Amino acid sequence: MKALIVVGHPDLSGSIINRHWVDALRRHDELCDVHVLADEYPDGRIDAARERGIVDAHDVLVLQFPVYWFNCPPVVKQWLDEVLTDGWAYGAGGNALQGKPVALAVSAGIAQSDYSPQGRYGHSLQELLTPFETTFSYCHADYRSFFALYGAEHDPSEDEVARNAEEYVGFVKDLLR
Ligand SMILES: Cc1cc2nc3c(=O)[nH]c(=O)nc-3n(C[C@H](O)[C@H](O)[C@H](O)COP(=O)(O)O)c2cc1C
Repeated sequence: MKALIVVGHPDLSGSIINRHWVDALRRHDELCDVHVLADEYPDGRIDAARERGIVDAHDVLVLQFPVYWFNCPPVVKQWLDEVLTDGWAYGAGGNALQGKPVALAVSAGIAQSDYSPQGRYGHSLQELLTPFETTFSYCHADYRSFFALYGAEHDPSEDEVARNAEEYVGFVKDLLR
């Protein structure tokens, strides 16, 4: 049993949180394979057939990305649009994701207290991530919600980031149970 972590950070060289997460996950290659889209496809042209094969070869799928404008970065949307096609992810014979555990791992610049119905932006991250939940339920996947780091723009300490990365590894472990 192994998880596939599809990383949709546009530039890990400028990242703190997603880079820590990738480093932590790569120390657990018995649990998961880390697949960084920006490294696999530097020209931005995703090989969708290859991606489908890689998803098929794993028991669990995690989409990891930073929250940009209360959504995912474009490369994640591109991946969804091009990889989750009729006949594979949905439609006649499209059962590749049926029953497959799928989850998200998202980093958010904004503090958790601002992400609530009473908070500054009026919506929780769970609400804002509903399109992903609905997409995966449309594909009959077993959507297992999301792991999050909030407040990335509030300078979390090295220790906090390292602890959070280990919690993320635990989240992936639980998905494989
Ligand atoms: C274009 C852009 C848009 C962003 N929009 C949001 C947002 O809507 N909500 C939020 O919480 N953080 C937002 N952020 C902050 C990022 O989510 C945050 O910097 C990132 O998760 C940190 O992870 P990293 O260190 O791996 O880059 C945005 C950042 C950028 C560059």
